[in-house]
Amino acid sequence: MNLETNSLGDAVRSGGDTAFSALERRTFAIISHPDAGKTTLTESLLHAAGAVHEAGEVKARGDRRRARSDWMKIEQQRGISVTSSVMTFQRGDILFNLLDTPGHQDFSEDTYRTLTAVDCAIMVIDAAKGIEPQTRKLFEVCRIRNVPIVTFVNKVDREGKSPFELLDEIAEVLQLDVSPQNWPTGIGGLFHGLYDLRRKALLVADRSDGVVPGRWVDAAGVDDPAIAGVIPADAAASLAEEGGLALASYSEFDRAAFRAGDLTPVIFGSALRGFGIEQLLDILADDGPPPQPQPARPAPISPDEPRLTGFVFKVQANMDPNHRDRVAFVRICSGKLTRGMKVLNSRGGKALALHNPITFFARDRELAHGAVAGDIVGIPNHGTLRVGDTLTEKGETVFTGLPDFAPEILRRVRLSDPLKVKQMRRGLADLAEEGVIRLFKPALGSAWIVGVIGELQLDVLQTRLEQEYGAKLEFEPSPYEVARWVRADDPAELKKLTEALRSNMAEDQDGVPVLLMRNAWEHGRFEQEWPAITFSAVRERS
Ligand code: G4P
Repeated sequence: MNLETNSLGDAVRSGGDTAFSALERRTFAIISHPDAGKTTLTESLLHAAGAVHEAGEVKARGDRRRARSDWMKIEQQRGISVTSSVMTFQRGDILFNLLDTPGHQDFSEDTYRTLTAVDCAIMVIDAAKGIEPQTRKLFEVCRIRNVPIVTFVNKVDREGKSPFELLDEIAEVLQLDVSPQNWPTGIGGLFHGLYDLRRKALLVADRSDGVVPGRWVDAAGVDDPAIAGVIPADAAASLAEEGGLALASYSEFDRAAFRAGDLTPVIFGSALRGFGIEQLLDILADDGPPPQPQPARPAPISPDEPRLTGFVFKVQANMDPNHRDRVAFVRICSGKLTRGMKVLNSRGGKALALHNPITFFARDRELAHGAVAGDIVGIPNHGTLRVGDTLTEKGETVFTGLPDFAPEILRRVRLSDPLKVKQMRRGLADLAEEGVIRLFKPALGSAWIVGVIGELQLDVLQTRLEQEYGAKLEFEPSPYEVARWVRADDPAELKKLTEALRSNMAEDQDGVPVLLMRNAWEHGRFEQEWPAITFSAVRERS
């Protein structure tokens, strides 16, 4: 099945650069616990916007892509999504940039960084399971940055918890005001349709052959008699009663509270069967935040600023296994990117010409025609761009807040073939720059230590080093369990620490000092003994 050029590609080509730049932007991600339905929802959103022609294509293409790409075999074997990418689609006069994130918690760091590049997130919840641990963790990351959340309660076509129970759980666990925007007649066997409180109409579920969206019926309220004429009487009665109660009990939608991250609009639906998708897009379009100011030194950057600024939130190597490429994903924060323009990289101050910036239409890549605040572009490079780099047309801006997290697992690396030291070192350095691993070079001894958040990252490291760099790695236990970045206001204090604890000292991939410690107890002791030193579990990349 071939993906034909979607409507956006056509619009861009016919309307040209100006039409493209003038579209409003909504840049968002989907967060969820694995299996809640993120992939299915992505597909439904693209389908609803006409960006793919058949639901199922994203998955089919994903499978083909995986089959082509060797290192992604890990993904295939384990049935998880490791990499994150971008999908852009148009609906009306809005351009949606959807940033995909890995679902598995071992790759959460990648997800955290991706969330720094969005203005809004959709939180998908399985109606039968409610809020699951990974959803909660990701939500907390959104909360740190006050990212507004739209909640999508998925799988209402299946038996699940009651809508009231789900809303109360969201409100209680996440400490958010909830505002239902549609209401199901019931869940599972009782699902006969969704009343859309915004459109004031009922989307009838056609249950004659499976459960598919049928017609829209205008209805002034959940108790409009017109509803009883189109769905079974008991379903209509339940909608009138429960929907009425819900309207009376939960918050009314308040755009300012939503945009401040205090209130979440909730949509009930089914990603698989296409319910609630249009409503979700309506909310994002009508009330979702446009590109927001981004935290930076010396001052935050407003999207209205004329000069181009952006930051790298992700680097992905070898997206196309036939060409050893490396793509830096850049969130544009202000100004306009045009092909061929020169920008400065804040790290090192070197100029960089953007000859082949890429944009991502649905799942296709194309040369960028021009990108504006809120857009994501891919910049092919040979290792010059790193996660956390700031690109500017001019001026001295440095974007802040892109986190590196202290690893939870530390391993010594050993080579099976000692002749491949060079390849191994290059591979490790590359993957550390990509943000896949932390790399620590101890002050004493030559055995490098790698740090990861989850075991699966070690699998990815092993597979990629072998397949992309020809170096077969073994991992050995490391004597350390804890790594912390160390700094001091007074350089003399840091020097004292470095000399006293030389055998514990290391540098990370950027040469920043790190203290490696045997366990939490030793960590506590050192913190007590060295009050002038700050031990940090998170490091900002810029
Ligand atoms: P994820 O990306 O969040 O991990 O979830 P994914 O979309 O892969 O969905 C997980 C499972 O839930 C899939 O079933 C999918 O078909 C199912 N699902 C998603 N949305 C809905 C929905 O609205 N209703 C129902 N009934 N099921 C839904 P699977 O059997 O694991 O995979 P598959 O073989 O169907 O692809």
